[in-house]
Amino acid sequence: MRVLIGGGSGFVGTRLRRLLNKAGHQSMVISRQPGENRVSWNDIYRDGLPECDAVVNLSGENIGDPFKRWNEDFKEIVCSSRVDTTQQLVTAITSAKHKPRVWISSSAIGYYPASETAEYTELSAGGSGDFFAELCAEWEEAAKLPAEAGVRHVTLRIGLALGREGGMIPKLIPSFWLGAGGTIGSGKQWFPWVHVEDVANLIKYSLENEEVTGVLNAVAPHAATNADFTKTLARAMWRPAFFPLPGFVVKTVFGEERGLAMLEGQRVIPERTLATGYKFLYPDLESACETFSSILPIST
Ligand SMILES: NC(=O)c1ccc[n+]([C@@H]2O[C@H](COP(=O)([O-])OP(=O)(O)OC[C@H]3O[C@@H](n4cnc5c(N)ncnc54)[C@H](OP(=O)(O)O)[C@@H]3O)[C@@H](O)[C@H]2O)c1
Repeated sequence: MRVLIGGGSGFVGTRLRRLLNKAGHQSMVISRQPGENRVSWNDIYRDGLPECDAVVNLSGENIGDPFKRWNEDFKEIVCSSRVDTTQQLVTAITSAKHKPRVWISSSAIGYYPASETAEYTELSAGGSGDFFAELCAEWEEAAKLPAEAGVRHVTLRIGLALGREGGMIPKLIPSFWLGAGGTIGSGKQWFPWVHVEDVANLIKYSLENEEVTGVLNAVAPHAATNADFTKTLARAMWRPAFFPLPGFVVKTVFGEERGLAMLEGQRVIPERTLATGYKFLYPDLESACETFSSILPIST
């Protein structure tokens, strides 16, 4: 299969390309940076879609960087890097003479409202109430293809992806190593996590299985709170984790809106994902955190 991946140079995309190559598929990345096996967004705009069997979009400005101030300009980049790239790929797919067989778009668990008591499956209502939910709704709307395009479409609502090479794990490892790790705020908030290997594997599974369509929650089946995660990571690293990061510090460093999203969470169930027959490689936190136990702080 020839797979074109928008934002395929990133945390999830790098894992995905490795997995696809191993399975004998070919991949090409759409990137803002030139390089081998890459095309630019301008190339797509000018020349249309290169011949391919599948298109995946993983583009998006990183939201978790505390050095990027959370202001209106940055929020605009956060939105446009997701919605506009998705829209551009939909336009390219729709107007392609030789259409791909499958289109995989990204969204996030921020689609569901934060709650300590509710449980959300793919069929639950969402997409409104705060910045992140509205962004996800707009992102998913932009990904919709006209039915007459005849291209299978899968949308992944991705959880907090855990992996050595990106996301929060490399940021947490140094403080955990020093024995200064702890919960974020009270730690009672749900922590809808997923191992990055499962995100990549679920994309590959969706590419390869013709019967998979629609929205899938890319979150691990064993729900956990932030406190559960903190305890499990600390145990895997043989370190204590007694130092909670107070809510006001989180809001000061990350900004009120983004900070709140870290202090609240949602319990997300991958009901449809499991119903497709997908088997998670890392269904529980213990098995996932074991894969980080050997990371040294200097290698992060
Ligand atoms: N990682 C998570 O925990 C998580 C959770 C929920 C949803 N997601 C979503 O899943 C997708 C993949 O996540 P990821 O962690 O792999 O993302 P990532 O590594 O932060 O970024 C993916 C790629 O997006 C491109 N990009 C970054 N800023 C951009 C901008 N301003 N305009 C256009 N392109 C930009 C970059 O590609 P180039 O530099 O090559 O152009 C980058 O390699 C993203 O859409 C993300 O929002 C991720």
